[in-house]
Amino acid sequence: MSDPKSESIESVLAENRSFHPPKSFAEAARIGTRETYERMWSQSIDDPERFWGRIACELPWLEPFDEVLDWSDAPVAKWFGGGKINASHVCLDQHLETERADKVALIFEGEPMGDGGPEIRTFTYAELHGEVCRFANVLKARGIGKGDRVAIYMPMIPEAAMAMLACARIGAIHSVVFGGFSATSLEDRILDGGCKAVITADGGWRRGTVLPLKPAVDEAIAKCEATEGGSPVETVLCVQRCGNEVDWTEGRDFWLHDELMEVSDECEPEPMDSEDVLFLLYTSGSTGKPKGIVHTTGGYMVGAYLSTRFVFDLQEDDVYWCTADIGWITGHTYIVYGPLANGATMVMYEGAPNAPHEGRFWEICERHKVSVFYTAPTAIRAFMKWGDEHVERYDLSSLRLLGTVGEPINPAAWIWYRDKVGGGRCPIVDTWWQTETGGIMITPLPGVSATKPGSATQPFFGVDAAIVDENGRELPDGQGGLLAIRKPWPSMLRGIWGDEARFRETYWSKWEHAGKPHFYFPGDGARKDPEGNFWIMGRVDDVLNVSGHRLSTMEIESALVSHPSVVEAAVVPRPDDLTGEAIVAFVIPTGSVEDVQAIVEELRDHVATEIGKLARPAEIRITTRLPKTRSGKIMRRLLRAIAAGDDVTQDTTTLEDPTILDELRAGGPA
Ligand code: WT7
Repeated sequence: MSDPKSESIESVLAENRSFHPPKSFAEAARIGTRETYERMWSQSIDDPERFWGRIACELPWLEPFDEVLDWSDAPVAKWFGGGKINASHVCLDQHLETERADKVALIFEGEPMGDGGPEIRTFTYAELHGEVCRFANVLKARGIGKGDRVAIYMPMIPEAAMAMLACARIGAIHSVVFGGFSATSLEDRILDGGCKAVITADGGWRRGTVLPLKPAVDEAIAKCEATEGGSPVETVLCVQRCGNEVDWTEGRDFWLHDELMEVSDECEPEPMDSEDVLFLLYTSGSTGKPKGIVHTTGGYMVGAYLSTRFVFDLQEDDVYWCTADIGWITGHTYIVYGPLANGATMVMYEGAPNAPHEGRFWEICERHKVSVFYTAPTAIRAFMKWGDEHVERYDLSSLRLLGTVGEPINPAAWIWYRDKVGGGRCPIVDTWWQTETGGIMITPLPGVSATKPGSATQPFFGVDAAIVDENGRELPDGQGGLLAIRKPWPSMLRGIWGDEARFRETYWSKWEHAGKPHFYFPGDGARKDPEGNFWIMGRVDDVLNVSGHRLSTMEIESALVSHPSVVEAAVVPRPDDLTGEAIVAFVIPTGSVEDVQAIVEELRDHVATEIGKLARPAEIRITTRLPKTRSGKIMRRLLRAIAAGDDVTQDTTTLEDPTILDELRAGGPA
């Protein structure tokens, strides 16, 4: 196996291997010729309204739309105005009148490997429809209705997808909170969204043990109650998954299985305005407080439908598996809404990739004959490390297409994925997008694109992406700059929940001074090669990407300073072979430190309790000072270099106290 360590950013810049789709793949693909692709692409850019208007008509509208795009209130777009649609109707009901009614929609594989093998549950479209209708009726019976916000804090079990679809069915707005987030993070999101209900489970399975969830919900609600406005939560619906013991608040908490016995399986989908909110999903920005990204119904569904169809070249008999958690946007768009809108068969897995053994993913691929597989670079790097033998043991001949998402993929991991998992025959789609974009934005089309390891290649239909400078001027090929999106697209975010000013400031103000107020700023640096392929170089703001999970430096810093032993903290990323980036924190303690190891451990745990385990710093360095400019700004670039063990080549003349460098390098007071 090649060593990911031997790769540097230079090797990515010099990467020029290029792989064309196999002829047989192209011949059977939905888009299999350059001509088709180019014709569609130019239509989508030259006349986006005509293009999207035509695509949107492939979805079952409850009432037709009368205007494709209204950008007059930019940067808040209105797509498919006048139209009525319901996301759960798109995902389920439309298939019931076809032979897809009895097609398997969802194959679930549970985590603990009992003696009889894993728990496997399957649902046809008709069955899933029935489950969702009943779930929706439970919500209604508990007084939840159109426009109400519902937090979903669940393990990766079918009920999680059903909960989302049930909310969508009655017009309630779901706000899924990743099950790995702490009670405090859940509390913040419940309060910010004003959630009237929480859907959770007693626990989920992880590596053969129970990971309790209900206690965090209880704690989060208790914390909400202690705030000035009190808790907005009236109802907690709990799925019994693991049978672990849980505390119960009478009148507030209800078991889903009890409630389901009381309701019918008929529930008409609520006709939603195209621009009614479908969901909120919180993500980290460069300031401390996570933002509730707002997605609406019509445009989001059109984007999810089309991108899933073409990027994954979905065919009727595909078995599609996206390994993300539904707590992230990937899980929303490419586990739930996109695949189901296309009538696909999808796989859902509850557990870890290496439990009970390192071949678990491939065992699942073999068992269910997965044909399209979508995962994160960090997982691929872990598999490389665990060894080829775990992959080689399984028959992966059903696979025909592979995808990656979440962070830049290093060429060695890409090649390994192609050779070892894809047997050298499966195209790889490296998809760039964000929580805010709702769907894939830059990506190969598997039947036509010549792919290059490390490049997300080219913009998807309707996406006007460019590499620009600080003034929004397009840069020549090869030159690194800022990624900008210059036209609205259907699945774009419509706002930040409750904070319009921040929405405008974060995404639309970057090039305002240059007269370009409607260029969207994603926060990524990138460059384009002479063939028009985009190479994403990573964030240019204070956002970290750890194993494809997005975290804010400031959020982690505030978690650190909320500990009584910390005066000040600065957090920076350090390149990591496995996780892409690792979190390094420089911390000034309140007093003298007796036992460095003990305080470091305590602080790491503290961050895990405040935010979640995913934010636990890989390294904490205790220091007496932080490098600051004379105006008092922390010099993060300098800390980055120190954390990476690089020579400090930057200009340090603005540094208030140059002697500090030696102390920081030494990793402790000099
Ligand atoms: C950020 C968005 C998109 C769903 C998962 C993450 C980085 C995402 C790629 C890729 C290089 C990527 C970007 C982006 N990113 N995909 N294929 N190549 N970088 O969604 O949590 O909203 O994070 O992830 O930096 O801005 P997210």
